[in-house]
Amino acid sequence: MRNETLQVIEARASTRVFADTAVSPEEREAILAATLRSPTAGNMMLYHIIEVESQSTKARLAETCDHQPFIAKAPMVWVFCADYQRWYDYFEACDVRTMCKERGIEFTTPVEGDLFIAACDALVAAQTSVIAAESIGLASCYVGDILENYEEHVELLGLPPWVMPMTMVVFGHPPARRDGAPRRMPRFDASFVLSKDRYHRRSRSEFDRMADPIVKALFKKRTFFDNTANLGQHYYARKMAAPFTKEMSRSVRAAIRRWCGGNT
Ligand SMILES: Cc1cc2nc3c(=O)[nH]c(=O)nc-3n(C[C@H](O)[C@H](O)[C@H](O)COP(=O)(O)O)c2cc1C
Repeated sequence: MRNETLQVIEARASTRVFADTAVSPEEREAILAATLRSPTAGNMMLYHIIEVESQSTKARLAETCDHQPFIAKAPMVWVFCADYQRWYDYFEACDVRTMCKERGIEFTTPVEGDLFIAACDALVAAQTSVIAAESIGLASCYVGDILENYEEHVELLGLPPWVMPMTMVVFGHPPARRDGAPRRMPRFDASFVLSKDRYHRRSRSEFDRMADPIVKALFKKRTFFDNTANLGQHYYARKMAAPFTKEMSRSVRAAIRRWCGGNT
């Protein structure tokens, strides 16, 4: 089955080089309007977007997000945050504490479950923005490394306790020249990603079949990272054992501690 929406999804690829053209106010408005129509838990919109316009902030994020210079050059930079602060500020404005006292209800502040549902909202909104951008001819790239350096991002973006950066998306016009075009990345076969009714763990021989299309497309000469022997070792060495992963875990722990504020 094919239609225009499926074609947009099929053709999208992460883009890290942008044309030297601004995102127009109309394009920005179209992406924002689509984003705000994202499904959201309880229709509470438990997310907040920080649009980074300041060039010095972009440049700083290019460093703090694992040294990725394309962030500083991106025409539009949105940080998608999980946000319960807006609701808790609103609860205070609505005298919810008084209502709780009168009715004998315990007043609690956000904890882990609230963080996860707000994180879901933020990510759903981010993906809507990506597809909306693509549908009007713009390109984008996620930056997961916004999860690092929590304390510095709190300062840089002025984040209160119940606003946590979940992901960043950079947008721009794709470059005109073909050599700037992103490569279409292969994926695992659907049979490795979807199980019926219960999770299906895989055997060693099945993993060879899983890795094959990626190895064929990306590592034609089988030169894996750091002289590793196969795709599993390559990914572990490049991702799991990398300093940025350790920093991400430290940073996320600090963010969860602040979010939960001792209410764990
Ligand atoms: C949660 C998430 C975090 C990502 N973080 C980064 C990143 O920090 N830097 C980057 O260049 N690409 C990042 N990407 C893009 C992925 O590398 C990309 O989606 C993947 O390689 C597949 O390529 P494709 O999007 O072109 O199909 C991220 C994607 C997601 C979904």
